[in-house]
Amino acid sequence: MRITKSFAETREVANGVVGLVPTMGFLHEGHLSLIEAARHESDTVVMSLFVNPLQFDRDEDLARYPRDLERDVALAAAAGADVVFAPDLGEMYPDEQLTRVNVAGLSDALEGPNRPGHFEGVATVVAKLFAGIQPHRSYFGRKDAQQLAVVRRMAHDLSMPTEVVGVPIVREADGLALSSRNIFLSEGEREAGLQLSRGLMQAADLVEAGERDAKAITNAVYFEIGDELSVEYVTLADQKTVSALTTLDRPAFLALAAWSGKTRLIDNVHFDADEDGFVGDRGIRLAGRSVLYRTGED
Ligand code: PAJ
Repeated sequence: MRITKSFAETREVANGVVGLVPTMGFLHEGHLSLIEAARHESDTVVMSLFVNPLQFDRDEDLARYPRDLERDVALAAAAGADVVFAPDLGEMYPDEQLTRVNVAGLSDALEGPNRPGHFEGVATVVAKLFAGIQPHRSYFGRKDAQQLAVVRRMAHDLSMPTEVVGVPIVREADGLALSSRNIFLSEGEREAGLQLSRGLMQAADLVEAGERDAKAITNAVYFEIGDELSVEYVTLADQKTVSALTTLDRPAFLALAAWSGKTRLIDNVHFDADEDGFVGDRGIRLAGRSVLYRTGED
């Protein structure tokens, strides 16, 4: 496996069908499942690893974002990546980034009001990755449902020749959606955080039993959540436009954000139409403990 630092070098080593997996590192099985999906469909799998300052709205969050290049390189290689592109700040932003990508509308809902500038930062860095690496396909987790919608729309609107592929959420054995930020949760905060996935699974059961009313569906989630968590939103949204729905009548996702202590958690269930109605994508559960918690001795 190669580690590259520049766009030019990355293009040079990426042959044939190129699959790109953009990440900010501190890998877990969610990221690794994107590499696996890319592996099946690409000659060269490039994983990018860059903690993008442009998308952080709180300095504190950027400063404490976990970083471990050596660990990430080992995990990416084991999962089947051919190239880890780990640019430094000067390669990604050699000058003040005057050109920004703003996917109007889609960026304003859900996460938008709580994280000003976030999706502009995401869309801008992903546009740079697409332009600099020129992948045929690019892989994004359904975990960040709004981000997936924003990136899809950006690629569409800007005629970018990369197919954006969405991949199911990977969850810990007890249902908690994997996130690099989970390492910050205390035992109690983690326990409280489990209410979120429990609520979403209840809502998925309700939908599969025929419920279509957004209020009833979101209430199923609230019912599971106690006062240890501070909820920002629980919303049923259109998969494409991210606008809130009052009735489940098209492909949608039920998304939420909540604070457990000082850690902000997001999670969702996608609802896709099939012959019988809608099915909830409950994601994939790990059989054992995540690599997130692996220490040097394991
Ligand atoms: P990061 O949070 O590192 O996530 C990288 C990719 O992994 C994203 O596509 C995200 O949706 C996916 N992912 C994270 N947790 C997942 C899980 N539990 N199951 C499945 N996929 C999961 O998202 C970003 O980085 C950045 O915004 C980025 C796109 C790299 C732009 O900077």
